[in-house]
Amino acid sequence: MAKVAIVGAGHVGVVYAAGLAELGHTVRVVDIDRARVVALRKGRVWFHEPGLPELLARGLRRRRVTFATSHPSAFAGAEFIFVCVPTPTTTDGSLDDSMLRSAFQLIRKHTGADRPIVVNKSTVPVGTGDLARKVFGDSGLQIVSSPEFLAEGRAVEDFFHPSRIVLGSNDRPAAEAVAKLFVALRAPVVYTDVATAEFSKLAANAFLAMKVSFANALARLSEAVGADVDGVTQVLSLDRRIGEGHLRAGLGFGGSCLPKDVAAVEHLARQSDANADLFSAVLRVNRDQRSRVVDHLIQRFGSVAGRRIAILGLAFKAGTDDIRESAAIALAEQLLALHADVVLYDPVARAEIRNGAVKASVARSAIGAARRADAVVLATEWPELAAVDLKELRKAMRGNVLVDGRGIVAPGAARALGFDYFGFGRGGRTQS
Ligand code: UDX
Repeated sequence: MAKVAIVGAGHVGVVYAAGLAELGHTVRVVDIDRARVVALRKGRVWFHEPGLPELLARGLRRRRVTFATSHPSAFAGAEFIFVCVPTPTTTDGSLDDSMLRSAFQLIRKHTGADRPIVVNKSTVPVGTGDLARKVFGDSGLQIVSSPEFLAEGRAVEDFFHPSRIVLGSNDRPAAEAVAKLFVALRAPVVYTDVATAEFSKLAANAFLAMKVSFANALARLSEAVGADVDGVTQVLSLDRRIGEGHLRAGLGFGGSCLPKDVAAVEHLARQSDANADLFSAVLRVNRDQRSRVVDHLIQRFGSVAGRRIAILGLAFKAGTDDIRESAAIALAEQLLALHADVVLYDPVARAEIRNGAVKASVARSAIGAARRADAVVLATEWPELAAVDLKELRKAMRGNVLVDGRGIVAPGAARALGFDYFGFGRGGRTQS
């Protein structure tokens, strides 16, 4: 069993810490945020990730996971150092690698003759391996690029059942040593060079985003020809060459990865004088999905000013409290700018909203949010919202406009209750 240090106690860092500990390794996580470290030492995970608090508690109890704020203490004796720091997008779509650069510098500074293998888990601009090599110089430190494919809300499941482990390095023994850490998972391992590993992560997320935008483009056309998009995508997903997943039409993709990574690939294409149209279109279709809801409401009401609009579901997808790049938030902001009276509800992401992310009122229940509303928009596919009592919802509302942004209620049932129902690609020609 190995001694592992992890730089960055974020979503990925904490899942890897708890997961590696479960596999029997000893893990020390370092983060500069003292409050975060203090909370994690007590087993408190501040984000919503099913199964993670329990897994972390087990690692803490067995004393396999510890947290530190000092890099030298975290790196002492480590055979591997995992880098799990954020790489946010800058305004031009490129990824900001400053935290990564600083992590590499700290590793160089605070590791001596032990020469741990450095494993990069952060999503990075292609070429970051070169940056690491430059920072490490002749120190003998080796970099292995191993992108993570954890999806929020199922990160623990994804850790223990990875579809593949990608190891990019020009030092094969170092990559093989990393693979050994995960041998119990029996996952397929792809050994490759650093640039291929780095690019494969961006490529995978760009492809997933493309599938979502493709489904959304099909939804628009389904409306035009009177087809049902769920039926169309079901047919597509049964073709093994297409595959299931990420074909659900709706308000589009959000979160910390898909929007950022397609933008990064688009930026890369532009920078390389390659054709960026495909990636630009993926982003454009995604933006349009949100505008279409606003347009629909304007079309229904003439103007949304003063109209009470309830947005149910704020997380960027079900199973998480993350509201980064959430369609619901983008929608709320657009509607507020048009002077609508917006009320929000989410089963889990409430605290995030109260922290002031959006200037709208927050309700305690779906029905509470719908009270006296002119329109209700279902924006996240939470099971609670899919199971909402439509009769109660209708009774609570002043108006009858229902926008099903995630295709989670049956159009027929909604219409039978008197709702003026709109769902992307659902309902064909009868829609406006
Ligand atoms: C994604 C990748 O799936 C994961 O492998 C990678 O490591 C990080 O990025 P995540 O951002 O957690 O994970 O969410 P994902 O489940 O991929 O969904 C992304 C967005 O697309 C969500 O907003 C979701 O609502 C939307 N989506 C997804 C759809 O609109 N339709 C779908 O069919 C699937």
